[in-house]
Amino acid sequence: MPELIIRFTEADAARELRADVRAGLTDSPKWLSPKWFYDAVGSDLFEQITALPEYYQTRAEQQILSQRALEIAEVTGAATLVELGSGSSEKTRLLLDALRKHQTLQRFVPLDVSGAALRAAVEAIALDYPELRVSGVVDDFTSGLSALHAGTGRLVAFLGGTIGNLLPAERAEFFAAVRAALQPGEWLLLGTDLVKDRQRLVRAYDDAQGVTAEFNRNVLRVLNRELGADFVPEQFQHVALWNAEQEWIEMRLRAARPMRVQLAELALTVEFAAGEEIRTEISAKFRRERVRDELSAAGFELHRWWLDDAGDFALSLAAAR
Ligand code: SAH
Ligand code: AVI
Repeated sequence: MPELIIRFTEADAARELRADVRAGLTDSPKWLSPKWFYDAVGSDLFEQITALPEYYQTRAEQQILSQRALEIAEVTGAATLVELGSGSSEKTRLLLDALRKHQTLQRFVPLDVSGAALRAAVEAIALDYPELRVSGVVDDFTSGLSALHAGTGRLVAFLGGTIGNLLPAERAEFFAAVRAALQPGEWLLLGTDLVKDRQRLVRAYDDAQGVTAEFNRNVLRVLNRELGADFVPEQFQHVALWNAEQEWIEMRLRAARPMRVQLAELALTVEFAAGEEIRTEISAKFRRERVRDELSAAGFELHRWWLDDAGDFALSLAAAR
């Protein structure tokens, strides 16, 4: 039976959501953390995004993994695969297959803040990999990495480009925390989306079918349910734009008209002017030098850098120094 360890409880999530939302919606400009997108509906919408024609990232990373998984297994010889922000862990099966073939893997530890997504993934993986010890961890990867099966020859995978959803200072803190949790010689496998043509990037975050718009608005539905808020999500327009200076995509929600929103559980009233926006996500895009330098600053040495055939997405394998 797979185990599921809950380190980030519903009470922790409720407390953090309240503090986060109060901070973000009383700030100027307003913001919300992308962590709150991923209730069961949001996780499902993300899975739909991964199949959209405009959203090339998942297919690109899948291609790299299918070409390189055996090499990753040979180089790392990992006995424990830890996956941060694991979601459905679908692509991870390529790594599990390669490590199984290489006969080193004993344990798989997917970690995600979304209990719903993690529970489903852990059950599916345990069924298909009966010889593996599967230990799912519900936790926040920005705060809970210590003691993840220390001393077991770990490969930590952080796929999908989710690193890009952290602000630069959060990113530096995150890399340092991952490094601190590892022993010299253990490994980090990192997926990063790359800087490219602005139109393709914007289309990947503003698809023709409007799935990304629904994913974006879903955060307001989470606030309505969890905080007794009275947002009318349809009154917020989905905005995706390229910030060329920062080299990141920004998703925003733009109020269609002046609005007053009550958040009953916070005893908070938030006013919106017509056209006022909430920033809901950044998705940073990378170049090789930035990945190498940020990893190096945290105590990792970039060992391999692989691209998909189109050169859209990169997978980095780095060793803890
Ligand atoms: N790795 C998968 C899923 C990416 S979607 C892929 O490559 O397709 C991003 C995932 O990160 C979601 O499952 C979400 O629940 C999780 N996530 C987002 N913020 C998180 C946080 N702070 N801590 C842990 N998981 C988080
Ligand atoms: C999870 N993360 C890498 C996705 C991204 O591309 O930044 C989330 C997403 N947002 C809109 N579409 C997908």
